[in-house]
Amino acid sequence: MINYEAFFSRAAGHMKASAIRKMGGVAAQGRDIVSFAPGFPAPDTFPWQDFQEIAHELLSGRDGSVLQYGPTRGYRPLVETIADVMARRDAPTSPDRLLVTTGSQQGLDLVARVLLDPHDVILVELPTYTGAISAFRSVQADLVGVRQDADGVDLDELDEVYDRLQREGRRARLLYLVPNFQNPTGLLISRTKRTALLDWAERRDVLLVEDDPYRDLYFEDSASEADVRPIRADDRSGRVVYLSSFSKTLAPGYRVAWIDAPPPIAAKLEIAKQASDLCTGELDQRIVYEACRRGILDRQAPLLRAYYRHKRDVMVAALAREFGGDVTWPEPRGGFFLWASIPSPVDTGAMVARAIEHGVVYVAGQAIPIGWPPASPGRLPPDA
Ligand SMILES: Cc1ncc(COP(=O)(O)O)c(C=O)c1O
Repeated sequence: MINYEAFFSRAAGHMKASAIRKMGGVAAQGRDIVSFAPGFPAPDTFPWQDFQEIAHELLSGRDGSVLQYGPTRGYRPLVETIADVMARRDAPTSPDRLLVTTGSQQGLDLVARVLLDPHDVILVELPTYTGAISAFRSVQADLVGVRQDADGVDLDELDEVYDRLQREGRRARLLYLVPNFQNPTGLLISRTKRTALLDWAERRDVLLVEDDPYRDLYFEDSASEADVRPIRADDRSGRVVYLSSFSKTLAPGYRVAWIDAPPPIAAKLEIAKQASDLCTGELDQRIVYEACRRGILDRQAPLLRAYYRHKRDVMVAALAREFGGDVTWPEPRGGFFLWASIPSPVDTGAMVARAIEHGVVYVAGQAIPIGWPPASPGRLPPDA
């Protein structure tokens, strides 16, 4: 028997399977189970008919480039379409800043590889997106969490954590944020806090990594376009690396997303992507491009807002009915996530096993590796 452990790199030693993906696997095992575990879009919202027509047209032609390797930066008409999308988000950009990625997950991986060395510090919201934890850990960066208020990262604590690190002789280089309907808490960073965070990053000379896959999914009863304005829209000095995705608005199966970054960073990301996959799937990019060109993306957005808002209402009503006043949660104003706090001594991890017996799966906070609220600001445990 070969001892494969002895062959693994040090970096591989730090890799841990995501608890959320494991929970997703429970749902995929063919059992009739209601899964609240992964942030999967609802398949009944996918524009199946449109995708069929587009794929049929693309594959019926003789245009060999549809199935060919493409440029690493992305299919040029799609890159231009993304520039239009960015302009509509009040963040005008240009092709030298843009890179199409194979999902935002690849974007996070590339950002980690280009901007972080082992033991560099990246500040993250507590709790934060598990996929980002995986990407940053895979380059052996040290993640340091900052508690969130109802309207996002606690600015005082952000300062305290930064100062404490400095006293220890360490400098935080990046701050990773999901300002719109954060995964996993559903929180929305307020407009004033966005401005304050950009100022803070300027003062402290930190780069912001703004991960924004959910912004189109604001619920119109409690949020608007103005509330989801990217931090990037007010970035005058090139502090923000911005990521967004078509996964939550068209379909995640295409794996088409993008990064908008200052040109020197974008150029490095392009080289890192060449090592990773040469280019994002050309057929996928063409389908997404056509879906944008034919107005399908614009048509989907309001439908999705209404659809997920209804789901939010059903969930909130069920929680209020079943748990009464013991359980609290910030009411989601968009996106997929609701984060409920259950008073101790209830073990929410142990509850999952019972929930699965009853045909329901969810993610317990302890699986995300970060307490809520944390006893004290701090580093995430190394093996979390
Ligand atoms: C905050 C956040 N960032 C990135 C991603 C990855 O998205 P993509 O499908 O574009 O890789 C997700 C997916 O759940 C997410 O919630």
